Amino acid sequence: MTTIDLSIDHERRKNVVQRARERNIIIPTFAQMKDPALIPASIKDRLSNIGLWDVSPYNLFRITWKNEPVPHGGGYGGVNYLELPSSLTGTSARIIVLVGKWFPTGAHKVGAAFGCLVPRLVTGQFDPTVQKAVWPSTGNYCRGGAYDSALLACESIAILPEGMSRERFEWLSKIAGEVIATPGSESNVKEIFDKCWELRNSGEDLMIFNQFDELGNYLWHYEVTGHAMQEVLNRELGPRDQFRGIVSATGSAGTIASGDYMKQLFPASKIIASEALQCPTLLENGFGAHRIEGIGDKHVPWIHNSKNTDIIVAIDDNAVVNLARLFNEPAGKEYLVKQGVPEAIVSRLDLMGFSGISNVLSAVKMAKYYELGENDIVLTVLTDSMELYSSRLREMHSELGDYTTLDAASHHAEYLKGISTDHMLELSYVDRRRVHNLKYFTWVEQQGKTYEEILAQWYEQDYWVDVQNQVQEIDELIEAFNRDVGLI
Ligand SMILES: Cc1ncc(COP(=O)(O)O)c(C=O)c1O
Repeated sequence: MTTIDLSIDHERRKNVVQRARERNIIIPTFAQMKDPALIPASIKDRLSNIGLWDVSPYNLFRITWKNEPVPHGGGYGGVNYLELPSSLTGTSARIIVLVGKWFPTGAHKVGAAFGCLVPRLVTGQFDPTVQKAVWPSTGNYCRGGAYDSALLACESIAILPEGMSRERFEWLSKIAGEVIATPGSESNVKEIFDKCWELRNSGEDLMIFNQFDELGNYLWHYEVTGHAMQEVLNRELGPRDQFRGIVSATGSAGTIASGDYMKQLFPASKIIASEALQCPTLLENGFGAHRIEGIGDKHVPWIHNSKNTDIIVAIDDNAVVNLARLFNEPAGKEYLVKQGVPEAIVSRLDLMGFSGISNVLSAVKMAKYYELGENDIVLTVLTDSMELYSSRLREMHSELGDYTTLDAASHHAEYLKGISTDHMLELSYVDRRRVHNLKYFTWVEQQGKTYEEILAQWYEQDYWVDVQNQVQEIDELIEAFNRDVGLI
């Protein structure tokens, strides 16, 4: 099967409908996540009394880029985004970032998890009355999955490496049924997969929603993040401006699917995939440990459409962690203001988590590589914010001491002003195939994909388009499900 399986299990679906009726669950459609104007007024009224992170089924309707940026009772507005000035980025190109902090859980991964879980629920393939949902992840996806599971009355198991930030574990212990810490840190994805096999073989009745190979993750970002990007451009693209491309780190390679959407609208635009220099898997089949939490690696995710990737860029994790200090320590912020970065921007730099900083650095490298100027727009994404890394800042503070103006000046000079076009590769057809071929070792040798499937993904003309075209059918299944539940 090369698309999302939408076959219906009528018997099991009855259990899911019954469960949803008992727990007051209404499921939003993709159309509503893209355009909250379509959400019924009665649901919006309910949300006015509900916090952004509360475990309430109504918060399913906050799986959108358009939440009002407030922690409680917010309605909807436009897409949450921010343009970074050249006084910060050092390039005159316009770098615009979509802000993930205002999703429930503080990261857009609730959307990826929704994209994987909901098609299985509304078809009855997954039955939460007897099965558990398993969320293998390097951090935010299992938070999103455990959260969505709680909203949809499913029991969940979250799997993440033991080295991830404390905030994630503390919060998960309250939301997930079970939390499993696997050996290693950020890039130890194989250990997560091994745990999944152990669970599969345990005889327990569960379903594994593996974000790295679930096309629902690809589809959610293609459709919802892609449309959000389009709307940002509709507002920002002046008559002389050009959209040049999107930049995204690839953890599960879900977010980068938004580039497939944007390239269909702007065929000359580029898609830039970024990763950690300390683990340059895409760049040079490399491996290693790194500190850009959320972007995994040492394998190529099954859902990465490498045929459509134009450039690979690797970012030094030292740049990321030191810029996190520059952007968040008082001496760092003061220094940036003295360098001419507007205070209104400096006070919002905490919207960038580690991978967000890495994405911005990648966007600047792209701008420098293509010699972009003031009429060129590059889009990227802040998956989460510093809210999920305050323990990391404290750790660095106690390890390295007070952050001084001297530290700020040196980090600013080295990691922002000094951004160059090193560690970048513009991909030829053969390079793209080399990245695709790497999938063989993870997915065919270890994880049960077939030889035919890996060939189909590269050689079948409509492989990705067929997935993209499933949105309408999924929305119809969601609408039929809601009708059967009978709450709207
Ligand atoms: C903080 C963070 N950044 C980036 C990513 C990568 O996004 P994607 O998995 O969509 O490629 C993730 C994924 O979990 C993440 O948690």
